[in-house]
Amino acid sequence: MSVRFELNGEPCGFAGDPLTPLVDILRRERFLTGTKAVCREGFCGACTVHVDGEARMSCLLPIASVAGRRVLTIEGLAPPGAPHPLQVAFEAADVVQCGMCFPGMVMSLSAAFRDRAPESRAEVKAAMTGNICRCTGYERIVDAVLAGLAAERASATESGDV
Ligand code: FES
Ligand code: FES
Repeated sequence: MSVRFELNGEPCGFAGDPLTPLVDILRRERFLTGTKAVCREGFCGACTVHVDGEARMSCLLPIASVAGRRVLTIEGLAPPGAPHPLQVAFEAADVVQCGMCFPGMVMSLSAAFRDRAPESRAEVKAAMTGNICRCTGYERIVDAVLAGLAAERASATESGDV
């Protein structure tokens, strides 16, 4: 079976078992290894990508389920050399340790707060509920998200983008 979909803005196709998990196509066929395959059971969130703008765990998605849809991975989230504000915030706060969880976390949070900054810690925590980090204390990640997205909002307001 052949499946056509959009991957990071480009047409993409896969011919093979329609039940192949999307995460395997991304990593093994497209070499987009920013998307991590850790638990492969929907528990850790490391494999999170956007499908039609929504955060989804790619280990749980058979490739056939994304036919005709838009898939965005961490590699396509921001242009080369211009990292997403969440990536900037995490680096500035020095919260990334082994790094396995962060691509998925960025994809979940960037979908949740695409159009607005979070207003509370609880809102940030709710948005990262499906993303497990075994290294970093979650509170420092929440601090970085709040600071980073608030700074981005302020600069967008100053420049008249919002
Ligand atoms: S690898 Fe998909 S949720 Fe853990
Ligand atoms: S930094 Fe290691 S799992 Fe999050």
